[in-house]
Amino acid sequence: MNTCSRDREQYATPLVNALKEYVDKKRKRLHFPGHKGGMNPVIADGLGLTDPLITRCLLGDVTELPGLDDLHAPQGAIYEAQRLAASAFGADTTFFVVNGSTCSIHSGVLAISKPGDKIAVSRDVHKAVIGGLILTGAYPVYVDVEVDKVFQIPLGPTPDTLRRVLDEHPDVQGVVLTNPNYYGISPPVDVLVAIVHDYDKIALIDEAHGAHLPFHKELPLSGLEVGADIVVSGAHKTLPAMTQTSLLHIKGSRVQDEDISRALTIIETTSPSYVLMASLDIARKLVATQGRKLLDPIIKAALGAQQKLNETPGIRCLTNERVASKGFRHDPTKFVASLDSINLTGFEVADMLRRRHNIEVEFQDMVNIIAVLTMIDMEQDVLDLARALVKIAEDDSLGRRKAIPERSDMEPVLADLGRVFEDIPKQEMTPREAVFSKGKWVEIGKAQGRISADTIVPYPPGVILVCPGQEITFALTDFICLATSCGVRFHGVKDNRVLVVA
Ligand SMILES: Cc1ncc(COP(=O)(O)O)c(C=O)c1O
Repeated sequence: MNTCSRDREQYATPLVNALKEYVDKKRKRLHFPGHKGGMNPVIADGLGLTDPLITRCLLGDVTELPGLDDLHAPQGAIYEAQRLAASAFGADTTFFVVNGSTCSIHSGVLAISKPGDKIAVSRDVHKAVIGGLILTGAYPVYVDVEVDKVFQIPLGPTPDTLRRVLDEHPDVQGVVLTNPNYYGISPPVDVLVAIVHDYDKIALIDEAHGAHLPFHKELPLSGLEVGADIVVSGAHKTLPAMTQTSLLHIKGSRVQDEDISRALTIIETTSPSYVLMASLDIARKLVATQGRKLLDPIIKAALGAQQKLNETPGIRCLTNERVASKGFRHDPTKFVASLDSINLTGFEVADMLRRRHNIEVEFQDMVNIIAVLTMIDMEQDVLDLARALVKIAEDDSLGRRKAIPERSDMEPVLADLGRVFEDIPKQEMTPREAVFSKGKWVEIGKAQGRISADTIVPYPPGVILVCPGQEITFALTDFICLATSCGVRFHGVKDNRVLVVA
């Protein structure tokens, strides 16, 4: 097929068409799901099922009926929609996934490892990767990450650290990398994937935050552009697709379609939502046909705001220049700003943005706020955010410097984050062995030296602090206690207690 007809066919939405055709028929629904599309007005009204907010969703919420194909053995509309997605993203094969990127990552890890295998993962991987290792019984080998000590965030692994790990562990099956991370920082994926392939291993790239990367040349490289074997695109995060949607791509000959589809049939629902799948079809069409055009003004607005804010006293914005000197890249659609130098935590800034300026950001930590911009945002949204940050810095700077003596209590926390990521605790058993062992809840303060039976993650962003099977060190318990007191929420910590191997 020539490029022109391939471009033209990206305007098609086969799955949406099949779904619309089905809905228009208004058939009597003697099938799942139990809400029957809210089509019995007498009963549905009383139950609130006819609320306009959900009636439209209910109508299209059907199951694998004739003409609507089968996600686990696609031959019709789903097959076509997935084929168009593969072509748009530059994959050999693409699978629609409706249980989040978590499910895509679990399937990827299941496809490439078995009990006792080793998988290299960067120290700051998302908990979904560890979930995959728990499912397979594989052993994690950690790749150190660089840390930015000012913004207190992990940057990612360098080529040298990855090479060292692969030299030390020639028996790893594959390497899992995050591109970009929650803060928009991408490691040099071209170099890293080339290294993984030099060692004849499989590269699995977690692009939960990077589904938009292939669609604008000013963004960091996508794993698919550099020949990674498995790439997980988190459609619902950075594309205009509904929550829980994800795309699982494969490229090259190291991983076969059957490896992935077999893994997906094990862990993905057998009742996939057609509303979610149709939203993937629409998002693919939009990004393939207008992605560059829509991303362009947002990227420009974000870069302009970064520059302006970096000239404003009291505000620091994360920029590409800052991380480029260390070999990383920054995706400007993850807008990271810190008012730490005037003693405002990310939590405080996020709270002021919400209360005083009616702006809700994606995430905040002890130092930064992170606003996520997508192709659907307007330039004005970026300008409003920048203006609000300037106002907060002006209003609060003088008073803050003097007025909050207890702020100094937090300095050890800030200083410790770098140490936490630099220090990799010993992995005493596989995550699977730890999770299936007899567990015991102990107070955090008494957990040092014990082996964790659970994954402990600050959430968001969901990057692992402690993996099941790892020793809980003093640096970790210290960090968890201080971070909790500053408002950080953790998965794996309950009433100040953690689960350890008994
Ligand atoms: C880096 C990373 N990978 C994977 C995931 C899981 O994605 P999902 O929430 O779609 O399951 C997340 C979620 O935040 C993430 O941040």
